[in-house]
Amino acid sequence: MVSSRKDKENSQEGKLKTQGRRLAELGQFVGGFAHEIRNPLSTIGLNLKMIEEELKEPMSPRERRVQRRLGRLSREVERLQDILEGFLSYVRAPGPARRKTNLNDIVRDLSDLVGPGLELAGHNLRVFYKPELPDIQVDPSQIQQVVLNLVTNAEQALQEEGRTGEILLATDRRREKGRRVQVITVTDSGPGMEEEVLEKCFQPYFSTKSGGSGLGLAVTQRLIHDHGGEVRVESHPGHGTRFEVILPEELEDPEELADREEPEERKESEKEAEGGT
Ligand SMILES: Nc1ncnc2c1ncn2[C@@H]1O[C@H](COP(=O)(O)OP(=O)(O)O)[C@@H](O)[C@H]1O
Ligand SMILES: [Mg+2]
Repeated sequence: MVSSRKDKENSQEGKLKTQGRRLAELGQFVGGFAHEIRNPLSTIGLNLKMIEEELKEPMSPRERRVQRRLGRLSREVERLQDILEGFLSYVRAPGPARRKTNLNDIVRDLSDLVGPGLELAGHNLRVFYKPELPDIQVDPSQIQQVVLNLVTNAEQALQEEGRTGEILLATDRRREKGRRVQVITVTDSGPGMEEEVLEKCFQPYFSTKSGGSGLGLAVTQRLIHDHGGEVRVESHPGHGTRFEVILPEELEDPEELADREEPEERKESEKEAEGGT
Protein backbone atom coordinates (compact mmCIF):
# COMPACT_ATOMS: atom_id res chain seq x y z
CA MET A 1 0.00 0.00 0.00
CA VAL A 2 2.66 2.39 1.12
CA SER A 3 5.03 1.35 -1.66
CA SER A 4 2.33 1.71 -4.35
CA ARG A 5 1.65 5.24 -3.20
CA LYS A 6 5.36 5.90 -3.36
CA ASP A 7 5.46 4.52 -6.93
CA LYS A 8 2.63 6.82 -7.91
CA GLU A 9 4.44 9.75 -6.38
CA ASN A 10 7.59 8.77 -8.23
CA SER A 11 5.86 8.55 -11.60
CA GLN A 12 4.12 11.85 -10.93
CA GLU A 13 7.48 13.34 -10.08
CA GLY A 14 8.95 11.86 -13.26
CA LYS A 15 6.19 13.42 -15.32
CA LEU A 16 6.74 16.81 -13.71
CA LYS A 17 10.47 16.55 -14.33
CA THR A 18 9.92 15.73 -18.02
CA GLN A 19 7.47 18.60 -18.29
CA GLY A 20 9.95 20.88 -16.59
CA ARG A 21 12.71 19.83 -19.01
CA ARG A 22 10.44 20.45 -22.02
CA LEU A 23 9.53 23.88 -20.69
CA ALA A 24 13.19 24.68 -20.13
CA GLU A 25 14.00 23.59 -23.71
CA LEU A 26 11.17 25.70 -25.06
CA GLY A 27 12.38 28.66 -23.00
CA GLN A 28 15.86 28.25 -24.44
CA PHE A 29 14.52 28.00 -27.97
CA VAL A 30 12.30 31.06 -27.65
CA GLY A 31 15.07 32.96 -25.86
CA GLY A 32 17.47 32.13 -28.71
CA PHE A 33 14.86 33.22 -31.23
CA ALA A 34 14.41 36.59 -29.50
CA HIS A 35 18.17 36.97 -29.31
CA GLU A 36 18.47 36.39 -33.09
CA ILE A 37 16.00 39.21 -33.75
CA ARG A 38 18.06 41.64 -31.71
CA ASN A 39 20.83 42.33 -34.25
CA PRO A 40 18.77 42.96 -37.40
CA LEU A 41 16.44 45.13 -35.32
CA SER A 42 19.32 47.20 -34.07
CA THR A 43 20.59 47.59 -37.68
CA ILE A 44 17.16 48.84 -38.74
CA GLY A 45 17.12 51.30 -35.82
CA LEU A 46 20.59 52.65 -36.57
CA ASN A 47 19.87 53.14 -40.28
CA LEU A 48 16.60 54.89 -39.52
CA LYS A 49 18.47 57.24 -37.17
CA MET A 50 21.00 58.00 -39.95
CA ILE A 51 18.29 58.78 -42.51
CA GLU A 52 16.56 60.98 -39.92
CA GLU A 53 19.84 62.79 -39.38
CA GLU A 54 20.16 63.42 -43.13
CA LEU A 55 16.66 64.88 -43.26
CA LYS A 56 17.19 67.04 -40.20
CA GLU A 57 16.33 70.23 -42.07
CA PRO A 58 13.48 69.35 -44.41
CA MET A 59 13.22 71.68 -47.42
CA SER A 60 9.84 70.73 -48.82
CA PRO A 61 6.46 69.60 -47.43
CA ARG A 62 7.24 66.20 -48.88
CA GLU A 63 10.48 65.97 -46.91
CA ARG A 64 8.65 67.06 -43.78
CA ARG A 65 6.16 64.25 -44.31
CA VAL A 66 8.96 61.72 -44.77
CA GLN A 67 10.66 63.03 -41.64
CA ARG A 68 7.48 62.56 -39.58
CA ARG A 69 7.07 59.01 -40.82
CA LEU A 70 10.67 58.18 -40.07
CA GLY A 71 10.20 59.46 -36.53
CA ARG A 72 7.22 57.18 -36.07
CA LEU A 73 9.18 54.19 -37.43
CA SER A 74 12.07 54.96 -35.10
CA ARG A 75 9.83 55.06 -32.06
CA GLU A 76 8.21 51.75 -33.00
CA VAL A 77 11.64 50.14 -33.41
CA GLU A 78 12.56 51.39 -29.93
CA ARG A 79 9.34 49.93 -28.58
CA LEU A 80 10.15 46.57 -30.17
CA GLN A 81 13.61 46.72 -28.64
CA ASP A 82 12.12 47.38 -25.17
CA ILE A 83 9.72 44.48 -25.58
CA LEU A 84 12.58 42.22 -26.65
CA GLU A 85 14.83 43.22 -23.75
CA GLY A 86 12.00 42.72 -21.24
CA PHE A 87 11.22 39.34 -22.73
CA LEU A 88 14.84 38.22 -22.67
CA SER A 89 15.32 39.28 -19.05
CA TYR A 90 12.22 37.21 -18.21
CA VAL A 91 13.11 33.99 -20.03
CA ARG A 92 16.81 34.23 -19.27
CA ALA A 93 16.54 34.98 -15.54
CA PRO A 94 19.33 32.88 -14.01
CA GLY A 95 18.62 30.70 -10.97
CA PRO A 96 19.28 32.40 -7.63
CA ALA A 97 22.94 32.77 -6.60
CA ARG A 98 22.30 32.31 -2.91
CA ARG A 99 24.41 33.82 -0.20
CA LYS A 100 23.98 34.89 3.39
CA THR A 101 21.78 37.96 3.30
CA ASN A 102 19.91 40.05 5.80
CA LEU A 103 16.52 41.20 4.55
CA ASN A 104 16.68 44.25 6.84
CA ASP A 105 19.78 45.40 4.93
CA ILE A 106 18.00 45.00 1.61
CA VAL A 107 15.01 47.00 2.82
CA ARG A 108 17.29 49.68 4.33
CA ASP A 109 19.29 50.09 1.09
CA LEU A 110 16.11 50.34 -0.92
CA SER A 111 14.47 52.89 1.36
CA ASP A 112 17.67 55.00 1.14
CA LEU A 113 17.39 54.76 -2.64
CA VAL A 114 13.71 55.63 -3.12
CA GLY A 115 13.02 57.60 0.07
CA PRO A 116 14.21 61.04 -1.13
CA GLY A 117 12.21 60.85 -4.38
CA LEU A 118 9.06 59.78 -2.54
CA GLU A 119 9.44 62.60 -0.03
CA LEU A 120 9.94 65.09 -2.82
CA ALA A 121 6.66 63.95 -4.36
CA GLY A 122 5.01 64.56 -0.98
CA HIS A 123 4.54 60.88 -0.09
CA ASN A 124 5.34 59.26 3.20
CA LEU A 125 7.62 56.20 3.38
CA ARG A 126 7.56 54.26 6.65
CA VAL A 127 9.83 51.31 7.33
CA PHE A 128 9.54 48.64 10.01
CA TYR A 129 12.47 46.35 10.66
CA LYS A 130 11.93 43.03 12.44
CA PRO A 131 14.46 43.11 15.30
CA GLU A 132 17.17 40.45 15.37
CA LEU A 133 16.20 39.04 11.99
CA PRO A 134 18.67 36.22 11.23
CA ASP A 135 20.46 36.01 7.87
CA ILE A 136 18.83 34.01 5.12
CA GLN A 137 20.26 32.22 2.04
CA VAL A 138 18.88 34.17 -0.94
CA ASP A 139 20.16 35.97 -4.02
CA PRO A 140 20.46 39.55 -2.70
CA SER A 141 20.33 41.26 -6.10
CA GLN A 142 17.23 39.32 -7.11
CA ILE A 143 15.45 40.14 -3.84
CA GLN A 144 16.47 43.77 -4.27
CA GLN A 145 14.97 43.71 -7.75
CA VAL A 146 11.75 42.23 -6.34
CA VAL A 147 11.34 44.89 -3.65
CA LEU A 148 12.17 47.63 -6.16
CA ASN A 149 9.48 46.32 -8.54
CA LEU A 150 6.89 46.33 -5.75
CA VAL A 151 7.85 49.78 -4.46
CA THR A 152 7.85 51.20 -8.02
CA ASN A 153 4.32 49.86 -8.53
CA ALA A 154 3.25 51.32 -5.17
CA GLU A 155 4.71 54.71 -6.11
CA GLN A 156 3.00 54.64 -9.52
CA ALA A 157 -0.28 53.69 -7.83
CA LEU A 158 0.01 56.73 -5.54
CA GLN A 159 0.78 58.98 -8.50
CA GLU A 160 -2.26 57.69 -10.31
CA GLU A 161 -4.34 58.70 -7.32
CA GLY A 162 -3.11 62.26 -7.80
CA ARG A 163 -2.85 63.02 -4.10
CA THR A 164 -0.18 62.21 -1.57
CA GLY A 165 -0.15 58.85 0.12
CA GLU A 166 1.84 56.39 2.14
CA ILE A 167 4.06 53.42 1.44
CA LEU A 168 4.89 50.98 4.20
CA LEU A 169 7.86 48.65 3.95
CA ALA A 170 8.27 45.95 6.58
CA THR A 171 10.20 42.79 7.36
CA ASP A 172 8.91 39.94 9.50
CA ARG A 173 9.71 36.41 10.57
CA ARG A 174 7.10 33.83 11.46
CA ARG A 175 6.12 30.19 11.37
CA GLU A 176 3.86 29.02 8.57
CA LYS A 177 2.69 25.42 8.09
CA GLY A 178 5.43 24.24 10.37
CA ARG A 179 8.27 26.05 8.64
CA ARG A 180 10.09 29.26 9.38
CA VAL A 181 9.62 31.99 6.81
CA GLN A 182 10.84 35.54 6.40
CA VAL A 183 8.53 38.11 4.92
CA ILE A 184 8.87 41.46 3.17
CA THR A 185 5.67 43.48 2.94
CA VAL A 186 5.01 46.46 0.67
CA THR A 187 1.75 48.28 1.41
CA ASP A 188 0.42 51.40 -0.29
CA SER A 189 -2.56 53.66 0.25
CA GLY A 190 -3.17 53.93 -3.51
CA PRO A 191 -6.34 53.20 -5.49
CA GLY A 192 -6.15 49.41 -5.06
CA MET A 193 -7.08 46.88 -7.73
CA GLU A 194 -10.45 45.79 -9.03
CA GLU A 195 -11.12 42.04 -9.03
CA GLU A 196 -10.30 41.54 -12.73
CA VAL A 197 -6.98 43.39 -12.39
CA LEU A 198 -6.12 41.44 -9.26
CA GLU A 199 -6.70 38.16 -11.10
CA LYS A 200 -4.42 39.09 -13.99
CA CYS A 201 -1.75 41.22 -12.36
CA PHE A 202 0.92 38.47 -12.36
CA GLN A 203 0.42 37.58 -16.04
CA PRO A 204 3.33 38.55 -18.29
CA TYR A 205 2.47 41.64 -20.38
CA PHE A 206 -0.65 42.49 -18.37
CA SER A 207 -0.61 46.21 -17.62
CA THR A 208 -3.18 48.93 -17.01
CA LYS A 209 -0.57 51.65 -17.52
CA SER A 210 0.06 53.39 -20.81
CA GLY A 211 3.60 52.36 -21.71
CA GLY A 212 3.71 49.76 -18.91
CA SER A 213 5.71 46.62 -19.72
CA GLY A 214 3.45 44.39 -17.65
CA LEU A 215 6.52 42.34 -16.71
CA GLY A 216 7.27 43.70 -13.20
CA LEU A 217 5.04 41.34 -11.26
CA ALA A 218 5.63 38.40 -13.61
CA VAL A 219 9.39 38.72 -13.04
CA THR A 220 8.83 39.26 -9.31
CA GLN A 221 6.78 36.08 -8.99
CA ARG A 222 9.20 34.11 -11.11
CA LEU A 223 12.22 35.13 -8.99
CA ILE A 224 10.43 34.34 -5.71
CA HIS A 225 9.19 30.94 -6.99
CA ASP A 226 12.80 30.16 -7.95
CA HIS A 227 13.61 30.80 -4.28
CA GLY A 228 10.93 28.31 -3.18
CA GLY A 229 8.81 31.18 -1.90
CA GLU A 230 5.57 32.86 -2.87
CA VAL A 231 4.09 36.30 -3.49
CA ARG A 232 0.68 37.13 -2.02
CA VAL A 233 -1.44 40.12 -2.79
CA GLU A 234 -4.41 41.67 -1.05
CA SER A 235 -6.12 44.74 -2.45
CA HIS A 236 -9.10 46.87 -1.53
CA PRO A 237 -10.32 49.23 -4.26
CA GLY A 238 -10.25 52.77 -2.95
CA HIS A 239 -8.07 51.85 0.03
CA GLY A 240 -4.81 50.33 -1.08
CA THR A 241 -2.78 47.24 -1.82
CA ARG A 242 -0.48 44.95 0.10
CA PHE A 243 2.09 42.62 -1.44
CA GLU A 244 3.76 39.99 0.72
CA VAL A 245 6.92 38.20 -0.32
CA ILE A 246 7.32 34.95 1.62
CA LEU A 247 10.75 33.32 1.69
CA PRO A 248 11.35 29.97 3.41
CA GLU A 249 14.39 29.93 5.71
CA GLU A 250 15.03 26.29 4.86
CA LEU A 251 14.23 24.71 1.53
CA GLU A 252 11.73 21.86 2.02
CA ASP A 253 13.58 19.42 -0.14
CA PRO A 254 17.38 19.53 -0.04
CA GLU A 255 17.47 17.58 -3.33
CA GLU A 256 15.51 20.35 -4.97
CA LEU A 257 18.20 22.77 -3.90
CA ALA A 258 20.88 20.50 -5.33
CA ASP A 259 18.96 20.34 -8.62
CA ARG A 260 18.64 24.08 -8.86
CA GLU A 261 22.16 25.09 -7.93
CA GLU A 262 25.10 24.96 -10.27
CA PRO A 263 27.95 22.82 -8.88
CA GLU A 264 30.22 25.90 -8.78
CA GLU A 265 27.73 27.73 -6.63
CA ARG A 266 27.52 24.83 -4.25
CA LYS A 267 31.27 24.86 -3.91
CA GLU A 268 31.10 28.59 -3.24
CA SER A 269 28.62 28.16 -0.41
CA GLU A 270 30.62 25.27 1.03
CA LYS A 271 33.69 27.47 1.01
CA GLU A 272 31.71 30.18 2.74
CA ALA A 273 30.52 27.73 5.38
CA GLU A 274 34.08 26.55 5.99
CA GLY A 275 35.31 30.10 6.23
CA GLY A 276 32.59 30.89 8.73
CA THR A 277 33.63 28.26 11.29
N1 LIG B 1 0.45 48.62 -5.85
C1 LIG B 1 -0.44 48.53 -6.84
N2 LIG B 1 -1.61 49.23 -6.81
C2 LIG B 1 -2.51 49.12 -7.80
N3 LIG B 1 -2.35 48.35 -8.90
C3 LIG B 1 -1.21 47.65 -9.01
C4 LIG B 1 -0.20 47.69 -8.00
N4 LIG B 1 0.82 46.88 -8.39
C5 LIG B 1 0.46 46.36 -9.57
N5 LIG B 1 -0.74 46.82 -9.97
C6 LIG B 1 -1.46 46.45 -11.21
O1 LIG B 1 -0.85 45.33 -11.79
C7 LIG B 1 -0.45 45.61 -13.15
C8 LIG B 1 0.81 44.83 -13.51
O2 LIG B 1 1.94 45.32 -12.79
P1 LIG B 1 3.40 45.07 -13.37
O3 LIG B 1 3.53 43.64 -13.70
O4 LIG B 1 4.38 45.66 -12.43
O5 LIG B 1 3.40 45.85 -14.76
P2 LIG B 1 3.43 47.43 -15.04
O6 LIG B 1 3.87 48.11 -13.77
O7 LIG B 1 4.40 47.58 -16.16
O8 LIG B 1 2.02 47.80 -15.44
C9 LIG B 1 -0.31 47.13 -13.18
O9 LIG B 1 -0.46 47.64 -14.50
C10 LIG B 1 -1.42 47.57 -12.23
O10 LIG B 1 -2.68 47.58 -12.89
MG1 LIG C 1 5.48 47.50 -12.57
